[in-house]
Amino acid sequence: MGKNRNITWHHITVSKADRHLMNGHKSCVLWFTGLSGSGKSTLANAVDLELFQQGIRSYVLDGDNIRHGLNKDLSFGVGDRKENIRRIGEVAKLFVDSGQIVLTAFISPFSQDRDLVRNMFAADEFIEIYLKCPISVCENRDPKGLYLKARKGEIAEFTGISSPYEAPKKPEVTIETAMETIEESVNKVIDYLTKKKIL
Ligand code: ADX
Repeated sequence: MGKNRNITWHHITVSKADRHLMNGHKSCVLWFTGLSGSGKSTLANAVDLELFQQGIRSYVLDGDNIRHGLNKDLSFGVGDRKENIRRIGEVAKLFVDSGQIVLTAFISPFSQDRDLVRNMFAADEFIEIYLKCPISVCENRDPKGLYLKARKGEIAEFTGISSPYEAPKKPEVTIETAMETIEESVNKVIDYLTKKKIL
């Protein structure tokens, strides 16, 4: 109960199913997970663009951006990463309730945290997309120069270097960003959504 003793839950009038009907598609979360530099933001934005061009209501929540605002009070320690992912899960749920397809691009390195979010959703609403990419490739790309800093010991608890990344055991989709073109990867995600009759 904690601080929330005098709060009651208000029931909504327009249902999620009503919104699906109006939009002409279902809603879900596309949860991209992978190392820094694995291509989460790039692919999430490319899929978002494709959906947008198809007239689908979608939106990207991106790690670096959310950490500038909603989650700017959080660090990269285990407890704060957990809270980061929990909050994103709650925000993603609002988007799904509003009838949209929400794409989230967070490292989300811990299986337990991702599973916590998975359990907030119906089985077909949470789609985990694992961006499988060798750390050597991510480190070569190093778009923000952070691996270099981490190797020099200038960033503590850097994922893949001094903090673990737990790869998903049963992701709905796996994408090998070192082997596929962006176009191929986008098609893979769109095909999945079509196969599952979300689009
Ligand atoms: S998560 O682990 O909590 O899911 P999140 O996706 O929000 O991470 O943020 C990761 C981004 O923050 C990275 O892409 C990188 O740009 C930056 N960053 C800064 N410090 C770290 C760190 N110690 N470990 C990982 N990423 C970091």
